[in-house]
Amino acid sequence: MSHLIRTDDFTKEEILALLDDAKSFGSKKFFTTLKDKLIITLFFENSTRTKSSFEIAIKRLGAQVVHLDVAKSSTKKGETLVDTAMNLDAMGPDAIIVRHQNAGVPKILSKHTKASIINAGDGAHAHPTQALLDLYTIREHFQGQALEGKRIAIVGDIKNSRVANSNIELLHRFGFDITLVAPPQFLPHTTLKTTHKLEEIVDKVDVIMSLRTQTERHSTQNYASLKDYASDFCITKKLVGDRDIIILHPGPVHRNIDIDDALLDDPRCKVLDQVSNGVNIRMAILKRLIAH
Ligand code: NCD
Repeated sequence: MSHLIRTDDFTKEEILALLDDAKSFGSKKFFTTLKDKLIITLFFENSTRTKSSFEIAIKRLGAQVVHLDVAKSSTKKGETLVDTAMNLDAMGPDAIIVRHQNAGVPKILSKHTKASIINAGDGAHAHPTQALLDLYTIREHFQGQALEGKRIAIVGDIKNSRVANSNIELLHRFGFDITLVAPPQFLPHTTLKTTHKLEEIVDKVDVIMSLRTQTERHSTQNYASLKDYASDFCITKKLVGDRDIIILHPGPVHRNIDIDDALLDDPRCKVLDQVSNGVNIRMAILKRLIAH
């Protein structure tokens, strides 16, 4: 049984095959690839995109989906998470998609289930399906060009971001030249290039990935205000000018703090393409893990 906990659970060859498969699904089509399969979603944290994207991917592949309403579940009555997962597993799902505020939860559950565990985000640790859809979006934009050597700046609260962690692992493996751009309190310990000046990198990148300030993971507020943060780190149309750069963001976007309104409306901003591509990538992942 295979699980997807981190991007490095897949080899580079497997990922390239996944990206090709995702493309082959096209858009708005329904298939019977996962007919007779059952998938449970278990989200202990809020989600707009990831949960609905998985649900749509499941339906497009012809499988059935059951959402556990965590607020009404027995974990609220003191049942351990592992027991909840084992009880769900006893009902015979093929996969359980898990989001949890604590790093490591999907990995622990995967040791106790027959079903494939798919990590839909665990604490600040990993968000593999997001990184895979980001890679897919970049590859689609640079159609046919080598990804090796493409330059990307990841901007924002990198230290607390599972999206950053998964992207750093994945994009590094695909030969991207990565620069982390953040104030010192948002930078992780790293061997990658770092700066806190956006103007220094804007002429040296092909892609900018903006990330939300993960306020829910800060024990104390460690910047003056989001407005002050934005004055240094907001990706604006003025900053980008007419440069040939694409802008990514996993959502939810803090408008005019992460990216300004004008740039959000610009065709170089790929935020909604990322959302569309997320369905295709999740279809390819579900097929790879449970279609047999
Ligand atoms: C992200 C998440 O939840 O990790 N969003 C997403 O899944 N698209 C990023 C975030 O919350 O900032």
